[in-house]
Amino acid sequence: MEIKSVRINAGKGYDVSIGENLLGSCGDVIGKTINPCRAAIITDSNVERLFLSTVADSLENEGFSVSTFSFPAGEQSKSIGTLSNILEFLGESRLTRTDCVLALGGGVTGDLAGFAAGTYLRGIRYVQIPTTFLAAVDSSVGGKTGINLMTGKNLAGVFVQPEAVICDVSCVKQLPDEVFADGAAEAIKTGILSGEDLFSLFETGDVKPSLAEIIKMCVTFKGSIVEADEFEAGLRKTLNLGHTVGHAIEKCSNYAISHGHAVAAGMAVIARAADRLGFSSTPVAPRIEKTLIRNSLPIYTDFSAENLTAAALSDKKRSGEEITLVIPDSIGRCYLKKIPVSTLHSVINAGLEVSSWTS
Ligand SMILES: NC(=O)c1ccc[n+]([C@@H]2O[C@H](COP(=O)([O-])OP(=O)(O)OC[C@H]3O[C@@H](n4cnc5c(N)ncnc54)[C@H](O)[C@@H]3O)[C@@H](O)[C@H]2O)c1
Ligand SMILES: [Zn+2]
Repeated sequence: MEIKSVRINAGKGYDVSIGENLLGSCGDVIGKTINPCRAAIITDSNVERLFLSTVADSLENEGFSVSTFSFPAGEQSKSIGTLSNILEFLGESRLTRTDCVLALGGGVTGDLAGFAAGTYLRGIRYVQIPTTFLAAVDSSVGGKTGINLMTGKNLAGVFVQPEAVICDVSCVKQLPDEVFADGAAEAIKTGILSGEDLFSLFETGDVKPSLAEIIKMCVTFKGSIVEADEFEAGLRKTLNLGHTVGHAIEKCSNYAISHGHAVAAGMAVIARAADRLGFSSTPVAPRIEKTLIRNSLPIYTDFSAENLTAAALSDKKRSGEEITLVIPDSIGRCYLKKIPVSTLHSVINAGLEVSSWTS
């Protein structure tokens, strides 16, 4: 069995292991980094049904003492209420500083479990076991954890790096199409940031046979950004391409629209705005729009510029009277642009206009 490995030099440093059918041997992989101890698996109701017993058995075979906590699947669970339940569960399971938390699931599970691990006893170790494409290419790496507040998306959280990331490509292959597309959105984002090699796989290539390679490319690129700017002082902000409008769409829909789909529409909005307002040096929107459509993703939203602007202005990326946008300049080059809060509405409005090639 071939395992691809990517080293991330952030926090204490950790390996991302990528391979087929890794869940059945995850105890072995984790055992290379963490000696047998109490392991609390945090998962959601869908993933519990699909993979929990495989993961728990593998850990127990390696001498870990396993307890499990499952919450209802979905973004609505990424809340202070679920976080509180997880923290109480860790206390009831009598986890100590030498024990560990395992996040088994998609980005919602990883963000919740990572936040709980980063704050329980002022921080215990945790491992990410991503089971969605989105978690594999993006959320399981880089140490950003968090929950949504009533006022907005990801408004509370901690930066805390995992001890290891174990990515089973077979899980990702069996995802429902809609959930797979969510991951494609973040991977296309990574392609817009990193360049043609990755972007062209989504623009013209065949994604599923190249899955392990795509995950590796995304993780390697994200790792390089995180290593340069772990706490998002500057460069790491570029990973938020499409997210100002994306988060606003999620919030306006009361989280009925998934993160990946919202980010896809958000990237299309900012790309069209960049072309129309002269922020990009060459036209970027048509290629981005066509690639999103080819990967079953939306390029428009039904929400108005007014509603999106209001939602975006409670976003954490706002600082004072300015907001930082990530502008796609060309495939492989994006830059940060600060704009006055008062002009955000007109930028979003420009991005909502229908592209001439689609009309
Ligand atoms: N921390 C970060 O750096 C970061 C980066 C990107 C996104 N995120 C966050 O990630 C979240 C989105 O993650 P997501 O798209 O993985 O959502 P998710 O965790 O809700 O998973 C999507 C759905 O897929 C199901 N599922 C998971 N694995 C499955 C499998 N193998 N087969 C079938 N179904 C499966 C889940 O139960 C859920 O219903 C958002 O909250 C977003 O803010 C965080
Ligand atoms: Zn995202």
